[in-house]
Amino acid sequence: MDYSALLIQIANQLYFLNQKGIKYLNIKALPGLEVKSVINGLEEIISKENVISSEPRENITTKKLQKYKENIEELPEIDLITEKSVKVDKNSIHNLKQKNINHNFDQTTNLEDSQIKSVSLSKILEKYRSCQNCALGVTRKKLVFGSGLSNPPVIFIGEGPGADEDVQGEPFVGRAGKLLTKMISAIGIERDDVYITNIVKCRPPGNRNPTPAEISCCLPIIKQQIEILNPKLIVTLGNIPTKTFIPDAPGITKARGKMKQYEKWKIIPTFHPSYLLRNRTAMPLAWDDFKMIMEFTFKITQS
Ligand code: URA
Repeated sequence: MDYSALLIQIANQLYFLNQKGIKYLNIKALPGLEVKSVINGLEEIISKENVISSEPRENITTKKLQKYKENIEELPEIDLITEKSVKVDKNSIHNLKQKNINHNFDQTTNLEDSQIKSVSLSKILEKYRSCQNCALGVTRKKLVFGSGLSNPPVIFIGEGPGADEDVQGEPFVGRAGKLLTKMISAIGIERDDVYITNIVKCRPPGNRNPTPAEISCCLPIIKQQIEILNPKLIVTLGNIPTKTFIPDAPGITKARGKMKQYEKWKIIPTFHPSYLLRNRTAMPLAWDDFKMIMEFTFKITQS
């Protein structure tokens, strides 16, 4: 399929409908900032396509895209999804989000690099897909390797897959995962713009903590993932991943929100989303950590 032609067609149709006074089919139902990021993304893809394609195409002019953006300004303010029990400073998060969304992650520019990384990750996955190095290999349904960008600014590392992840082979897709996805999105970074994985790749039965032996069996995988992904920031979710990289770290309540160094990478520990689901009062502290993650990500992607 010729995606660039398809994109141009879609954008032209939206423009045409917009001229007729029809606002974005159902896009109006989306938060304004989300639409804005879609349009920014579209603009990036199209300008990139124009550079690499030698075929003559009908061009989406910057003017047309500018028009979309102007119209988007009229869309209603984003209504942040926040947990009911949490008192968050909506304005400050909104500002951070706005600031961040205006900045496009420079992920697509280094396409070749990301393809090489992707291949390297696939090779590791293939090597371990049927791993039986520890007892978790016997009971798991699917090995949960990790998902997301192969050159992410941030990687989030949890403890180990739960029941949903074990079935689907994807990290953080259950209840805790949904909360994590919302929190990432609330700071203006989409889940697909980061990489998410766990310390152990197979589900510990009954969601118990992985044992030190299971952790050390899996350690080569996460270390290779970090080496390849080479993120600007690692966010450890809860005690297990935090202590895996910073053995002398205090408990997560003390360690959270304080930046540490693991080899050449910066780490910010925060609460595990499962803990937040059980302890709603910790949510404002988690938001502080997420704002810190956002500020840092914004700063480093600017530089
Ligand atoms: N908890 C984790 O630590 N990781 C997952 O992938 C899901 C829940």
